[in-house]
Amino acid sequence: MTNLIEIKGVTHAYKTPLGPLPVLDNLDIAVPEGEFCAVVGPSGCGKSTLTRLIAGLMKPDKGEVWLHGELVKGPRKTVGMAFQNPVLLEWRTILHNVILPLEIVAPSMPKKDREARAHELLTLVGLEGFEDKRPSELSGGMRQRASLCRAIVHKPDVLIMDEPFGALDAFTREDLWQTMHQLREKEPFTCVLITHDLRESVFLGDQVIVLSGRPATTQYVLDVQYPGERVLDGLYTPECSDMLHTLRDQIRIAQGRAGEDAA
Ligand SMILES: Nc1ncnc2c1ncn2[C@@H]1O[C@H](COP(=O)(O)OP(=O)(O)O)[C@@H](O)[C@H]1O
Ligand SMILES: [Mg+2]
Repeated sequence: MTNLIEIKGVTHAYKTPLGPLPVLDNLDIAVPEGEFCAVVGPSGCGKSTLTRLIAGLMKPDKGEVWLHGELVKGPRKTVGMAFQNPVLLEWRTILHNVILPLEIVAPSMPKKDREARAHELLTLVGLEGFEDKRPSELSGGMRQRASLCRAIVHKPDVLIMDEPFGALDAFTREDLWQTMHQLREKEPFTCVLITHDLRESVFLGDQVIVLSGRPATTQYVLDVQYPGERVLDGLYTPECSDMLHTLRDQIRIAQGRAGEDAA
């Protein structure tokens, strides 16, 4: 299997008035095509910085980011992004928010084809009938569904999500996890998901990367062996419990708190 994303020896420091702030240190990540890579790590360790580097919005001081066998040198059209705050445009309907990337990436695509594509995705995530609403008329979970549709409407090779479900209540979050699996079945994409929810990382991830504290390096890679189908009940099995314990221990090490009692 080829790696769609390869991050090799990436090192980066921000320039600040107090001098350089090292955030990433010799980071390596490889994500095979079609895989879902969940990334967890202590707050402030450099996770969002990593998403900006993969998307080509920033260049690393050292090291390389490869997408589809090409060195990333700038922003790419073949990347979709979703954030904790869905940032939908209030003056556009839900349908027209979802269409937006197509207007930029595929300007020659006929209007009716764009609308059909957006409609297809909105139906897939359970938002059929809400196409003409404005973002403020939808719940937080519905807005995040629409934002996911917008992130993949142009069929990006890579979907990058930075804590996309962090602001949602627990049950809505679980619904969206299931929606992610449905989307992946219908619309194969390679995904990097930043999350601070270990259950989310195990439920969605094929691999979970634990980053160390700042400057972040790859501290641990968990190959997720989900017991049976990806259904929520699986999270309550001994296999998942073991994986979650391992991740919790690794986070404690990343926080420099190894040996402390689980809090
Ligand atoms: N543009 C910037 N300039 C200077 N420092 C930054 C900038 N962006 C982020 N940082 C700092 O870099 C560190 C890593 O940030 P970030 O990648 O957002 O971490 P995370 O997403 O893991 O919480 C933090 O200490 C943050 O304050
Ligand atoms: Mg962040």
